[in-house]
Amino acid sequence: KNGLQVAIDGPASAGKSTVAKRVAKQFNYIYCDTGAMYRAITLKTIRAGISLDNAKEISAIVKNSKITFAPDDNGQKVFIDGDEITQDIRSEEVTNSVSAVAAIADVRQQLSAQQQAIAEDGGIVMDGRDIGTAVLPDAEVKIFLVASVEERARRRYKENIQKGINTPLEELQLEIEARDYKDSHRKVSPLTKAADAQEIDTTALTIDQVVSEIAKVIKNQL
Ligand code: C5P
Repeated sequence: KNGLQVAIDGPASAGKSTVAKRVAKQFNYIYCDTGAMYRAITLKTIRAGISLDNAKEISAIVKNSKITFAPDDNGQKVFIDGDEITQDIRSEEVTNSVSAVAAIADVRQQLSAQQQAIAEDGGIVMDGRDIGTAVLPDAEVKIFLVASVEERARRRYKENIQKGINTPLEELQLEIEARDYKDSHRKVSPLTKAADAQEIDTTALTIDQVVSEIAKVIKNQL
């Protein structure tokens, strides 16, 4: 193995991807955003006009799609079947639909298998909801990032404003709560902290502080 498997899980907008990208850079590890994979399938489902509860057709979409990543200054670009969808998968429509797609057992099984293949050789920071519990149960480092829902809504609000989207803060908070509820209550690999994960509450921490906290945990395992 060329380095450790680092699993970073937690609820929506807890800062997982920002932190995971930086940690990966610091250790020269691969970064894999598993949420982007669920979002990519959700986008393709919406574009195909397939209903979000059509498990059979959505499973077929996963089977017949190729999701790929390419490094970029801001993290990475995301592609499905060769088409770039980096921005498109962040739309409100995808964000509010993705939990339904992610609750389909066969979708999870197929995407988890792809994620396990990506992480096989180690040297990877993977973020998501079920990485420490289901995808990489033997990961050497497991982090569970949390933050108050108010703080998470504020962070999303700021990100949105930079992108020119102006959804009211209260609405964002409700969306985040709804998504966490769905992700935590689905039957297959729900969002939950792995027994051996280290929880970090980022509410009052800066990104740098969270990154150095995780770096410490990694260095202890090297
Ligand atoms: O991390 P992000 O917010 O982009 O994830 C989008 C959605 O994808 C989550 O709300 C969840 O429904 C799903 N997801 C998942 N398992 C993962 C990663 C994401 O179910 N490992």
